[in-house]
Amino acid sequence: MSKKIYLYGNWKMNNTYSETEKFFTEFPAAYDAVKADDLEVGIFAPFTSLWPLSQGAKKCGIVFGAQNVYYEPKGAFTGEISIPMLKEYDVTHIILGHSERRHIFLESDEVIAKKTKAVLDAGMIPVLCYGELLEEREAGNTFTVMERQLKSALAGLTPAETAKIIYAYEPVWAIGTGKTATPDQAEEVCKWSRELIGQKNAVILYGGSVKGSNAKELLSMPDIDGALVGGASLKPASFLEIYTAYKG
Ligand code: 13P
Repeated sequence: MSKKIYLYGNWKMNNTYSETEKFFTEFPAAYDAVKADDLEVGIFAPFTSLWPLSQGAKKCGIVFGAQNVYYEPKGAFTGEISIPMLKEYDVTHIILGHSERRHIFLESDEVIAKKTKAVLDAGMIPVLCYGELLEEREAGNTFTVMERQLKSALAGLTPAETAKIIYAYEPVWAIGTGKTATPDQAEEVCKWSRELIGQKNAVILYGGSVKGSNAKELLSMPDIDGALVGGASLKPASFLEIYTAYKG
Protein backbone atom coordinates (compact mmCIF):
# COMPACT_ATOMS: atom_id res chain seq x y z
CA MET A 1 0.00 0.00 0.00
CA SER A 2 1.43 3.33 -1.01
CA LYS A 3 1.78 6.05 1.63
CA LYS A 4 -1.15 8.33 2.31
CA ILE A 5 -0.75 11.77 0.74
CA TYR A 6 -2.11 14.91 2.39
CA LEU A 7 -2.94 17.61 -0.13
CA TYR A 8 -3.87 20.72 1.81
CA GLY A 9 -4.67 24.05 0.19
CA ASN A 10 -4.09 27.31 2.04
CA TRP A 11 -6.06 29.94 0.18
CA LYS A 12 -4.56 32.75 2.28
CA MET A 13 -6.47 36.04 1.66
CA ASN A 14 -8.02 34.80 -1.56
CA ASN A 15 -11.47 33.59 -2.61
CA THR A 16 -14.43 35.63 -1.39
CA TYR A 17 -17.73 34.02 -0.40
CA SER A 18 -19.04 34.05 -3.97
CA GLU A 19 -15.69 32.94 -5.42
CA THR A 20 -15.74 30.01 -2.99
CA GLU A 21 -19.23 29.06 -4.20
CA LYS A 22 -17.90 29.22 -7.75
CA PHE A 23 -14.90 27.04 -6.82
CA PHE A 24 -17.33 24.38 -5.61
CA THR A 25 -19.27 24.41 -8.86
CA GLU A 26 -16.11 22.99 -10.48
CA PHE A 27 -14.34 21.13 -7.69
CA PRO A 28 -16.65 18.10 -7.12
CA ALA A 29 -16.30 16.69 -10.65
CA ALA A 30 -12.54 17.30 -10.66
CA TYR A 31 -12.21 15.65 -7.26
CA ASP A 32 -14.36 12.65 -8.25
CA ALA A 33 -11.91 11.97 -11.04
CA VAL A 34 -8.88 11.67 -8.71
CA LYS A 35 -10.38 10.57 -5.38
CA ALA A 36 -8.43 7.70 -3.81
CA ASP A 37 -8.01 5.91 -0.48
CA ASP A 38 -4.45 7.16 -0.17
CA LEU A 39 -5.39 10.83 -0.67
CA GLU A 40 -6.62 13.31 1.94
CA VAL A 41 -7.58 16.70 0.56
CA GLY A 42 -8.10 19.73 2.77
CA ILE A 43 -8.90 23.39 2.10
CA PHE A 44 -8.27 26.33 4.44
CA ALA A 45 -10.25 29.46 3.61
CA PRO A 46 -10.61 32.97 5.03
CA PHE A 47 -13.18 33.20 7.85
CA THR A 48 -15.76 34.91 5.64
CA SER A 49 -15.64 32.02 3.17
CA LEU A 50 -15.99 29.26 5.76
CA TRP A 51 -19.72 28.80 5.26
CA PRO A 52 -19.63 28.04 1.51
CA LEU A 53 -16.40 26.10 2.08
CA SER A 54 -18.05 23.94 4.76
CA GLN A 55 -21.05 23.22 2.51
CA GLY A 56 -18.91 22.31 -0.50
CA ALA A 57 -16.34 20.34 1.48
CA LYS A 58 -18.95 18.26 3.31
CA LYS A 59 -20.58 17.26 0.03
CA CYS A 60 -17.22 16.11 -1.36
CA GLY A 61 -16.00 14.54 1.87
CA ILE A 62 -12.84 16.63 2.16
CA VAL A 63 -11.28 18.22 5.23
CA PHE A 64 -11.73 21.95 5.72
CA GLY A 65 -10.47 24.53 8.12
CA ALA A 66 -9.43 28.02 9.08
CA GLN A 67 -6.08 29.78 8.74
CA ASN A 68 -5.85 31.23 12.24
CA VAL A 69 -7.68 31.47 15.55
CA TYR A 70 -7.27 33.21 18.90
CA TYR A 71 -6.58 31.13 22.01
CA GLU A 72 -9.11 32.76 24.37
CA PRO A 73 -12.69 31.46 24.08
CA LYS A 74 -14.33 34.92 24.21
CA GLY A 75 -13.92 38.45 25.48
CA ALA A 76 -12.53 41.84 24.63
CA PHE A 77 -10.26 40.88 21.72
CA THR A 78 -11.36 43.14 18.89
CA GLY A 79 -10.95 41.62 15.46
CA GLU A 80 -10.23 38.09 16.67
CA ILE A 81 -12.10 34.82 16.06
CA SER A 82 -12.41 32.13 18.75
CA ILE A 83 -12.38 28.35 18.69
CA PRO A 84 -16.09 28.07 19.70
CA MET A 85 -16.96 30.37 16.78
CA LEU A 86 -15.17 28.03 14.38
CA LYS A 87 -16.70 24.93 15.96
CA GLU A 88 -20.16 26.16 14.95
CA TYR A 89 -18.96 25.88 11.36
CA ASP A 90 -17.79 22.30 12.06
CA VAL A 91 -14.19 23.33 11.51
CA THR A 92 -11.83 20.52 12.57
CA HIS A 93 -8.41 21.76 11.39
CA ILE A 94 -6.70 25.12 11.91
CA ILE A 95 -3.45 26.38 10.38
CA LEU A 96 -1.22 27.92 13.05
CA GLY A 97 2.10 29.71 12.92
CA HIS A 98 2.13 30.30 9.19
CA SER A 99 5.17 32.36 8.24
CA GLU A 100 2.90 35.19 7.08
CA ARG A 101 1.40 35.28 10.59
CA ARG A 102 4.87 35.16 12.14
CA HIS A 103 6.55 37.74 9.91
CA ILE A 104 3.82 40.12 8.71
CA PHE A 105 1.59 40.03 11.79
CA LEU A 106 4.45 39.47 14.25
CA GLU A 107 2.99 36.45 16.02
CA SER A 108 5.48 35.19 18.58
CA ASP A 109 6.48 31.61 19.36
CA GLU A 110 4.69 32.10 22.69
CA VAL A 111 1.37 33.08 21.08
CA ILE A 112 1.63 30.20 18.61
CA ALA A 113 2.26 27.79 21.50
CA LYS A 114 -0.86 29.04 23.31
CA LYS A 115 -2.93 28.66 20.15
CA THR A 116 -1.59 25.14 19.57
CA LYS A 117 -2.54 24.08 23.10
CA ALA A 118 -6.00 25.69 22.87
CA VAL A 119 -6.78 24.00 19.55
CA LEU A 120 -5.70 20.61 20.90
CA ASP A 121 -7.71 21.13 24.10
CA ALA A 122 -10.77 21.76 21.90
CA GLY A 123 -10.25 18.39 20.19
CA MET A 124 -9.25 20.03 16.93
CA ILE A 125 -6.16 19.52 14.79
CA PRO A 126 -3.49 22.20 14.47
CA VAL A 127 -1.64 22.37 11.18
CA LEU A 128 1.52 23.80 12.67
CA CYS A 129 3.81 25.66 10.27
CA TYR A 130 7.48 26.39 10.81
CA GLY A 131 10.43 27.32 8.64
CA GLU A 132 13.41 29.57 8.16
CA LEU A 133 13.97 32.87 6.36
CA LEU A 134 16.49 33.05 3.52
CA GLU A 135 18.98 35.00 5.65
CA GLU A 136 18.65 32.40 8.42
CA ARG A 137 19.41 29.60 5.95
CA GLU A 138 22.32 31.51 4.44
CA ALA A 139 23.76 32.17 7.89
CA GLY A 140 23.60 28.43 8.64
CA ASN A 141 20.87 28.90 11.24
CA THR A 142 18.09 26.84 9.63
CA PHE A 143 18.01 24.16 12.30
CA THR A 144 18.49 26.52 15.25
CA VAL A 145 15.50 28.60 14.14
CA MET A 146 13.26 25.62 13.54
CA GLU A 147 14.30 23.97 16.79
CA ARG A 148 13.20 27.15 18.62
CA GLN A 149 9.89 27.29 16.71
CA LEU A 150 9.05 23.63 17.19
CA LYS A 151 10.25 23.24 20.77
CA SER A 152 8.30 26.27 21.96
CA ALA A 153 5.09 25.06 20.27
CA LEU A 154 5.46 21.55 21.67
CA ALA A 155 6.64 22.42 25.19
CA GLY A 156 4.32 20.95 27.79
CA LEU A 157 2.36 18.83 25.32
CA THR A 158 1.96 15.11 25.91
CA PRO A 159 3.16 12.59 23.30
CA ALA A 160 -0.52 11.87 22.52
CA GLU A 161 -0.98 15.57 21.74
CA THR A 162 2.14 15.95 19.60
CA ALA A 163 0.97 12.92 17.61
CA LYS A 164 -2.28 14.67 16.71
CA ILE A 165 -0.63 17.73 15.18
CA ILE A 166 -0.06 17.95 11.44
CA TYR A 167 3.30 19.63 10.81
CA ALA A 168 4.13 21.79 7.81
CA TYR A 169 7.70 22.74 6.96
CA GLU A 170 7.58 25.88 4.88
CA PRO A 171 10.90 27.56 4.13
CA VAL A 172 9.93 31.23 3.92
CA TRP A 173 12.16 31.83 0.88
CA ALA A 174 10.17 29.24 -1.08
CA ILE A 175 6.71 30.67 -0.37
CA GLY A 176 5.04 32.44 -3.28
CA THR A 177 8.42 32.95 -4.91
CA GLY A 178 8.33 30.15 -7.45
CA LYS A 179 11.56 28.96 -5.79
CA THR A 180 11.06 25.46 -4.41
CA ALA A 181 13.32 23.75 -1.92
CA THR A 182 15.05 20.88 -3.66
CA PRO A 183 13.63 17.49 -2.72
CA ASP A 184 16.85 16.81 -0.77
CA GLN A 185 16.61 20.11 1.15
CA ALA A 186 12.96 19.49 2.03
CA GLU A 187 13.61 15.85 2.96
CA GLU A 188 16.56 16.78 5.16
CA VAL A 189 14.39 19.12 7.24
CA CYS A 190 11.35 16.84 7.38
CA LYS A 191 13.49 13.89 8.50
CA TRP A 192 15.20 16.05 11.12
CA SER A 193 11.77 17.35 12.30
CA ARG A 194 10.43 13.83 12.73
CA GLU A 195 13.26 13.07 15.14
CA LEU A 196 12.84 16.33 17.05
CA ILE A 197 9.06 15.82 17.34
CA GLY A 198 9.76 12.31 18.60
CA GLN A 199 6.88 10.75 16.66
CA LYS A 200 7.89 8.22 14.03
CA ASN A 201 4.45 8.49 12.40
CA ALA A 202 4.07 12.27 12.59
CA VAL A 203 2.41 13.73 9.51
CA ILE A 204 4.84 16.26 8.01
CA LEU A 205 3.94 18.34 4.96
CA TYR A 206 6.20 20.46 2.79
CA GLY A 207 5.00 23.87 1.59
CA GLY A 208 6.56 26.41 -0.75
CA SER A 209 5.72 26.75 -4.46
CA VAL A 210 4.41 23.19 -4.79
CA LYS A 211 2.77 22.58 -8.16
CA GLY A 212 2.16 19.80 -10.65
CA SER A 213 5.61 20.13 -12.19
CA ASN A 214 7.56 19.57 -8.96
CA ALA A 215 5.08 17.39 -7.02
CA LYS A 216 6.41 13.97 -7.92
CA GLU A 217 9.97 14.48 -6.79
CA LEU A 218 8.95 16.25 -3.55
CA LEU A 219 6.13 13.92 -2.50
CA SER A 220 8.20 10.83 -3.28
CA MET A 221 10.66 11.68 -0.50
CA PRO A 222 10.27 9.27 2.43
CA ASP A 223 9.73 11.87 5.17
CA ILE A 224 7.35 14.13 3.20
CA ASP A 225 3.73 13.10 3.75
CA GLY A 226 2.08 15.74 1.63
CA ALA A 227 1.96 19.36 0.58
CA LEU A 228 0.58 22.61 1.96
CA VAL A 229 -0.18 24.52 -1.21
CA GLY A 230 -0.79 28.23 -1.65
CA GLY A 231 -1.14 29.65 -5.17
CA ALA A 232 -1.79 26.35 -6.96
CA SER A 233 -4.70 25.52 -4.61
CA LEU A 234 -6.86 28.38 -5.87
CA LYS A 235 -8.11 26.46 -8.90
CA PRO A 236 -9.36 22.86 -8.73
CA ALA A 237 -7.28 21.74 -11.73
CA SER A 238 -3.90 23.11 -10.60
CA PHE A 239 -4.56 21.89 -7.04
CA LEU A 240 -5.54 18.30 -7.82
CA GLU A 241 -2.87 18.03 -10.51
CA ILE A 242 -0.36 17.88 -7.66
CA TYR A 243 -1.69 14.46 -6.66
CA THR A 244 -2.06 13.12 -10.19
CA ALA A 245 1.47 14.26 -11.06
CA TYR A 246 2.78 12.42 -7.97
CA LYS A 247 0.93 9.27 -8.94
CA GLY A 248 1.68 9.51 -12.66
P1 13P B 1 2.81 28.91 -2.30
O1 13P B 1 2.41 27.50 -2.69
O2 13P B 1 1.98 29.96 -2.99
O3 13P B 1 4.28 29.13 -2.40
O4 13P B 1 2.43 29.07 -0.74
C1 13P B 1 2.88 28.11 0.17
C2 13P B 1 2.25 28.37 1.47
O5 13P B 1 2.59 29.32 2.17
C3 13P B 1 1.18 27.47 1.92
O6 13P B 1 0.82 27.70 3.25
